[in-house]
Amino acid sequence: MFVTLDLQSLFKETLTRVWHVPILKVLGSGPARYADIRDGLVKLRESSPGDGTISTELRILRSKGLVEQLSQPNTTKKLWALTDLGKTVLRLIDEVDSLTNPENFQVKERRIEMPISDSQERAAAIDPTVPHPARRYDYLLGGKDNFAADRESAHEIEAVMPTVRLAARENRGFLQRAVKYLAGEGVSQFLDIGSGIPTSPNTHEIAQAIDPAAQVVYVDNDPLVLTHARALLTSTPEGKTAYINADLRDPEGILNDDQLRSTIDLSKPIGIILVAVLHFIRDDEDPKGIITRIIGSLAPGSWVVISHVTFDHMPSAALSGLEKPNRDGRFRARSRDELADFMTGLDLMDPGIQSIAHWWADEAPQPRPTVEDVAIYGAIGRVKAS
Ligand SMILES: C[S@@+](CC[C@H](N)C(=O)[O-])C[C@H]1O[C@@H](n2cnc3c(N)ncnc32)[C@H](O)[C@@H]1O
Repeated sequence: MFVTLDLQSLFKETLTRVWHVPILKVLGSGPARYADIRDGLVKLRESSPGDGTISTELRILRSKGLVEQLSQPNTTKKLWALTDLGKTVLRLIDEVDSLTNPENFQVKERRIEMPISDSQERAAAIDPTVPHPARRYDYLLGGKDNFAADRESAHEIEAVMPTVRLAARENRGFLQRAVKYLAGEGVSQFLDIGSGIPTSPNTHEIAQAIDPAAQVVYVDNDPLVLTHARALLTSTPEGKTAYINADLRDPEGILNDDQLRSTIDLSKPIGIILVAVLHFIRDDEDPKGIITRIIGSLAPGSWVVISHVTFDHMPSAALSGLEKPNRDGRFRARSRDELADFMTGLDLMDPGIQSIAHWWADEAPQPRPTVEDVAIYGAIGRVKAS
């Protein structure tokens, strides 16, 4: 625990000092003399800080245990080098850099307006040392946008629930079937909250395949999703796509967001997608109040799609094993009755609140998994005409 916290603060502090990262990068090529470091910085940044600054930065990096001085034979001049800890921090920086660098993505067409920030600033918002739901889910789906901490957390879950990858794919399948259905019913505006790291086909791709003019607003609170959304969420020329970096626990912030208001019209019916996100809202954060507030702002005839992890079918032996990956207490599975309470007042579509294993099973991949294999409920409700 101590090591993790230490690494976490070191990583963050390193990113906040302008010359720390370039110096670590220069030393990443191997031990170097003072003059070589200065030359390396000029090559990397096309400018170099004054000698006083380089000395100060090296002293600070040494006091943090990230660099050290090595003696050389036949000279009193010493070489600067990364320590093992310095190499670990540099590896994390490189990893975050490559996951967040838009140049690494193919952009078809971009209609998302978002300020471009410096890569160091983007990386500072991302903490690779603690698992995050979006990145862990990406790993479970076979994606590459995740770090060691996310993979370890996924393995901890897999140890007690070996079908968790299947469950993640099934959840994605439920989302896709639901969006296809809604678009077929004439829904042309979608608000997808807790959208995750883009995984094709995304909500807008499914909706726009049916109605090219469909408008989709994505919301997520994970900074890595933000960097990917910017590069990947694209739209047909007729439609519109927007991404909001916001938190479901602040429904007012989402509903009053300028980008949302200029993309979808809340006075007309929309489809709201809350798929695999509500279980990250703790009871003391008032999930029912959040949903009630959102549903209350929707026009009659709007649709609400929910999927939610449940332990209703989980053997009690497995439950204690899941405490480890949920050590931060962020995750809360819920029962069918609890979900029914969330959806009070909506007209529930057949088959009601049901395991996603059974939701429109005919259209889903065969053979169908069991209820225990997926451990996720799905439901679609409709806001009544007033
Ligand atoms: C398991 S993923 C689901 C992604 C997608 N909805 C799907 O089902 O394929 C959960 C997503 O919810 C996001 N999330 C968790 N808590 C959130 C919150 N309070 N506000 C917004 N997004 C949140 C995570 O960052 C993550 O991307």
